[in-house]
Amino acid sequence: MTTPTTAVAAVGTAHTRVEGVAKVTGAARYAGEVPYPELAHGWLVLSTVARGRVRAVRSAPVLAMPGVLAVLHHENAPRLNGGYTNAFGVPDPIAQIFQGDHVPYSGWPVALVVAETPEQAREAAEALVVEYDAEPHDVVFAAGLPGVYTPESAPAETKGDLEAELAASAVVVDAEYSTPEEHHSPMEPHAAVARWDGGRLEVIDSNQGSRFVADELAKLFSLDPESVRVRSEHVGGGFGSKGTRPHSVAAAMAATVLHRPVRVVMTRRQMFSLVGYRSPTAQRVRLGADADGRLRAVEHRAESLTSTVHEFVERCAEYGRTMYGCDAHHSVSRVVRLDVPTPSWMRAPGEAPGSFALESAIDELAEKCGLDPIELRLRNEPDVGPLSGLPFSSRNLVGCFEEGARRFGWAGRDPRPGVRREGRWLLGTGTAAATFPMLSAPSTAAVTAEPDGTFTVRITASDIGTGARTALTLVAADALETEPERIRMRIADSDFGPAMIAGGSMGTRSWAWAIRVAAAELRERLVLGGAVPPEGITARSDTSQAVGALPPMERHTFGAQFAEVAVDVTSGEVRVRRMLGVFAAGRIVNPLTARGQFVGGMVWGLSMALHEEAVRDRATGGHVGADLAGYHFAAHADVPHIEADWVDDPDPDDPVGIKGIGEIGVVGAAAAIANAVWHATGVRHRNLPIRPDRVL
Ligand code: MOS
Repeated sequence: MTTPTTAVAAVGTAHTRVEGVAKVTGAARYAGEVPYPELAHGWLVLSTVARGRVRAVRSAPVLAMPGVLAVLHHENAPRLNGGYTNAFGVPDPIAQIFQGDHVPYSGWPVALVVAETPEQAREAAEALVVEYDAEPHDVVFAAGLPGVYTPESAPAETKGDLEAELAASAVVVDAEYSTPEEHHSPMEPHAAVARWDGGRLEVIDSNQGSRFVADELAKLFSLDPESVRVRSEHVGGGFGSKGTRPHSVAAAMAATVLHRPVRVVMTRRQMFSLVGYRSPTAQRVRLGADADGRLRAVEHRAESLTSTVHEFVERCAEYGRTMYGCDAHHSVSRVVRLDVPTPSWMRAPGEAPGSFALESAIDELAEKCGLDPIELRLRNEPDVGPLSGLPFSSRNLVGCFEEGARRFGWAGRDPRPGVRREGRWLLGTGTAAATFPMLSAPSTAAVTAEPDGTFTVRITASDIGTGARTALTLVAADALETEPERIRMRIADSDFGPAMIAGGSMGTRSWAWAIRVAAAELRERLVLGGAVPPEGITARSDTSQAVGALPPMERHTFGAQFAEVAVDVTSGEVRVRRMLGVFAAGRIVNPLTARGQFVGGMVWGLSMALHEEAVRDRATGGHVGADLAGYHFAAHADVPHIEADWVDDPDPDDPVGIKGIGEIGVVGAAAAIANAVWHATGVRHRNLPIRPDRVL
């Protein structure tokens, strides 16, 4: 056969989503929508005490209710593998539901009610009486709590003599910042349907990595990994929350007990305790500089919380380890254990709150030095990693600021705060830098040349709404020297083999690498000639070795964030008028969806700066307003004109030049807004969100 060649490369050109029509016509089915005959419905029951033991689950009255099939709880649920460790080698109890009577926090799963219909299951779940022996709990986070510790998994980093450099500094900033508990709550709730089919456990699930979930379910249920298949063809958002969560485990348990397909869908309220969240943070930053703004000392001490059952660290202090040159550095992210659900990855974990503190402090330093905040940053650009001493694979932060300043109209800005006024509005502009680590993970792919001249790609990638499926289609088209229309991209099926999750801003980079390698191998075989047999010709790849062979370097994406705000002096309301982000984030595969990724992240930053705040009730240990009415995030009317663009920055080590863009959009965005609020009003806001009552 002949391989068609195209003159125009697909990578770098704007393409609408290949599954777009399926999504807008409703043909695309999400995990909670896949129909099965005999489908039963499970409804999770969560603890109402924040610490204690389950004394009794009063199942009998509920089992007599219409349609109820089973009540699973710690006394009758299938036993899970007690030695379970998750894909990262950690014994995470979030997936080990119904294995004991201990209740470690409010909202812990204590039972699953299964019925013929979701309505019957919900009715019965709400009627189920669970008796507890409650114990005293503590859910209140603050800086400097007793028991705060430095985790082994996130050691402090130190260089130079911090106190001596601070003492020798002409200008010192010493400020404390805080960010509240924040929740990702993706549009599509966590949902799974599980069934046994010919000796295999088949799960359709909403997740960020079907192979990871399949392997974890296999371990939990002590099954041969080959006998578990997980699919997640369409996913309505993840943001770090969609790993192996109680819904899929509960569905698999119920399907095992009832010998029927069982679907479990979380409610919005349940998601607030079952899928992770961003810990509140308390951060202290000390900066010391010469009068000309050259940094001598950077100290970043951050604290966050974790649960009593599992350690998760919000690594705020890592943000600064690659950003600014300095003579002395100390940074540490510490945690304290409270009777709360385990926090988890939430878009730019660590970098989002960490950059708020450090990039706000840098702005304060610029003010004290009488320097433009961009100029101060340029004066502290490091040649090599400030702590590691390793070279940067590429670092075009300067290019981002130059392009951003030009586009935003930064030149000629009056540095004085509180001088621009428009009626009852005070106006200000602010900026901040951004960075995010660039990583790759081993993945496998299979590319098949079909007899009709089309190609089928199979990879356990996950498109959580990012446009990954489309991006990979463009990558495959170029690698095969054909048109995107000839590529059939099949993703999100654990049977396709091991692959990275959609996480850490490394999904598309890791998957594209595997597709490139398999496509290159396939083309070599096609060059040898001969007819393509009916089953096609398939080449497979595994990037473990190539990814593992990358030499150690400072590998990151960078960005410059700009914001203009108007502050209502009568109500304290902050309105963002415009935002601009310019990023150096590798080769941009699909400008259309990439812009959506950046802008989406920047909206998160806006929301973090002004709106988001989960409030925990000291008395019950649960949330006040655990829904999208009570948890306020940016709505459409809050989002002004937002522009995102990029400078050319292909990664030299990646076969496509990709770096990864999933998370950097949120980094620095909240700081740019807070710095703009200072410029508008002359008042520093070090505690998020910047609510009207805090502005007045
Ligand atoms: Mo992302 S927070 O790595 O899913």
